[in-house]
Amino acid sequence: MPGRNGKVRVLLVGAKFGADLHMGGYARCRDLAEIVAICGRHSEQVQAIADKYGFSGFAVHDDYERAIAEVDCDVVDVCLPNYTHHDVAVAALRRGRDVIVEKPLATTTADAEEMVAAARAAGRHIYYAEDWFFAPALQRARALIAEGAIGTPLYIRAKENHSGSHSPYAQTIRYCGGGAMIHLGIHPMGFVLGLKENRWTDLVAMATGGLEHNLKHKALEGEDWATALLTFDDGTRALIEANYVTSGGMEDAVDVYGTEGVLHVDLSFSSPIRCFSVPGPSYTVEKAEVTTGWSNPVVDERYTFGSVDEIRHFMECCAADREPREGLRGEDGLEALRVVELAYRSAREKIWIRNEKMGQGG
Ligand SMILES: NC(=O)c1ccc[n+]([C@@H]2O[C@H](COP(=O)([O-])OP(=O)(O)OC[C@H]3O[C@@H](n4cnc5c(N)ncnc54)[C@H](O)[C@@H]3O)[C@@H](O)[C@H]2O)c1
Repeated sequence: MPGRNGKVRVLLVGAKFGADLHMGGYARCRDLAEIVAICGRHSEQVQAIADKYGFSGFAVHDDYERAIAEVDCDVVDVCLPNYTHHDVAVAALRRGRDVIVEKPLATTTADAEEMVAAARAAGRHIYYAEDWFFAPALQRARALIAEGAIGTPLYIRAKENHSGSHSPYAQTIRYCGGGAMIHLGIHPMGFVLGLKENRWTDLVAMATGGLEHNLKHKALEGEDWATALLTFDDGTRALIEANYVTSGGMEDAVDVYGTEGVLHVDLSFSSPIRCFSVPGPSYTVEKAEVTTGWSNPVVDERYTFGSVDEIRHFMECCAADREPREGLRGEDGLEALRVVELAYRSAREKIWIRNEKMGQGG
């Protein structure tokens, strides 16, 4: 299926923050992938993102329906806000294209189910872009767990927190699907579910109620603080945390407690650089409000947080017409979203939820 020069032909839909993450990956995957078209509402955003990573010779579109209908490509990379994922992906799948879909897979489980069904009907692949699986530190942590370095994992704690999304589309439930848990917590949720092969049995969650019920963000429709506790069928416990009340930069971290050891991964603040600056560097880490004083400027953010290896994996899968690794399939994105939705229900109704798919076990 790859194009005439043997490369996977990509139509990138979106030209802002999420698209920038993927462009950082494509920039280091030029041997395998070719950006044949970029679709963005604002041509200056399209040009800026292409210039930043040194891409040229692509077609420019401002309407994704026309782009999907007209662009001859192998894969459509969906980097638009959450509320569009379903429509863009289904249109592309029906056109016979594979799709890469940014997190969360959709804003509702019902939409995500339709996407997975559309992929099956078309015989095409959904590549669910959960970049945590490609963060080098988390890949190494998984390898350490697999070789038994900490014995049997008993308890996993995983979080993504920061001070609030930059995106206007993250402020309303219609556009985002919820608040911090769907927008940030979907990363630790997807990662932990993937680690445990989706074999969760029980779930209980708490969340602030949005707007005036929030801890800090009184204009945000979704919650600004949420936690979910999960039990897996082998007895492992997990705590997933997501909030918008964290100052000082994005916290992405995983702790795993095992029978014979413990493992701590800090993706955000583990840079080997310690810097004290009076004027402040231009950038240190995502969502840091200030950069003055002491900081840990991230070395290579696209690589550290997984986008680089993620795009390469998806291009290799596309070229070989195969499904991605576990945790990154459409079904995995659907399950992460289903659990987030159930967490919202648990928090709202103050109930403990059992996983019907796992029967009475656990
Ligand atoms: N993996 C990660 O760590 C990560 C980080 C940030 C964002 N994301 C994901 O990337 C996706 C995009 O988020 P973002 O941060 O780039 O958002 P953004 O608000 O920065 O940019 C959204 C862009 O989409 C355009 N847009 C909005 N609705 C549109 C429509 N109907 N048709 C065409 N264009 C439309 C806007 O004009 C804007 O250019 C989201 O799904 C988000 O969850 C992932």
